[in-house]
Amino acid sequence: MRHHVTLIPGDGIGEEVAEATLEVLKAAGVDIQWDHQSAGLAALYKSGTPVPKATLDSIRKNGVALKGPTTTPVASGHRSANVILRQELDLYACIRPVKSVPGVKSRYENVDLVIFRENTEGLYGGQELEVTKGTFVALKVVTEHACTAIANATFAYAAKHNRHHVTVGHKANILKLSDGLFLHRAYQVAEQYPGITCNDVIVDALCMRLVTDPSQFDMLLLENLYGDILSDLCAGLVGGLGLVPGANIGNDYAVFEAVHGSAPDIAGQGLANPTALIKSAVMMLQHLGEQTAAARIDTAVESVFLQGHVRTRDLGGQATTQEFTKALLAAL
Ligand code: NAI
Repeated sequence: MRHHVTLIPGDGIGEEVAEATLEVLKAAGVDIQWDHQSAGLAALYKSGTPVPKATLDSIRKNGVALKGPTTTPVASGHRSANVILRQELDLYACIRPVKSVPGVKSRYENVDLVIFRENTEGLYGGQELEVTKGTFVALKVVTEHACTAIANATFAYAAKHNRHHVTVGHKANILKLSDGLFLHRAYQVAEQYPGITCNDVIVDALCMRLVTDPSQFDMLLLENLYGDILSDLCAGLVGGLGLVPGANIGNDYAVFEAVHGSAPDIAGQGLANPTALIKSAVMMLQHLGEQTAAARIDTAVESVFLQGHVRTRDLGGQATTQEFTKALLAAL
């Protein structure tokens, strides 16, 4: 079956990891008609906006997109293309499975958890203002609707994927109303799933427990900012950002992208590890019902890491992006 998918390569290492991913998908024999669109810096230069209407239209038409990372300038400049895409398309659930990769040396070998991050509100509305000279306010928006939606998505996923425990991370000791609502809705939804246990941990203590013993966690349910930060922290537990995939899912659309950013420090040098985007593409194939191709790619990635000869630099090896991709194609 032919699939129609929007491709946003992004910038920084985006082109390099997107190219590798397309090669792997092609070799796996999936029939995908790609609609190439831009977002982030590339779009800004081309059409003066980080997310052109054509990009949104394409995703609305195809329903599914694969996206590379996009750069967002710090403390000035354009709004994040990611935030715009997630809010415009109501991609309220950000799903990030973090799993130890056999053969990859990392701090832990037994991590297997899934992060659910609320993706549309919290502090990411970008609503900031100067109330008096020298005093700024950033609005953290928390709605019952979004808290319920992400809690429903989390428990539904747990039930479907045979996961048994959800830990809610929060700061409701300080943010009693906003984080309080997030926590309250999570427990209400949990009542509908008697087979899945639920507890909550204040987010600072959660960080400590994660770095001490991540194997005690099964699923994490987090609001936007905590989910953003803890995603990178958890990536560090299994070997780094080069390995961890992700999906942004709403009721109507899905955008698959790695946790990592545009990695300007290594962009254009052929050093990027494409595994995270390739694994995001595996999640995309599962979403499209291409289970066989998804499993084939997963197995190939596993075997390259288990053989242990070909590693990109982030994992202590010498292989370039292309060399790693070539090994993966051979394993396929
Ligand atoms: P980053 O994730 O781009 O890089 C952090 C560190 O990890 C760097 O040392 C980088 O070289 C390394 N790294 C990341 N991905 C890698 C890969 N695939 N292979 C090997 N090494 C990898 O985070 P940073 O530097 O904080 O952000 C850079 C830019 O990316 C910023 O403009 C930020 O806004 C943007 N960003 C975009 C995201 C997206 O489009 N989804 C997500 C996160 C950040």
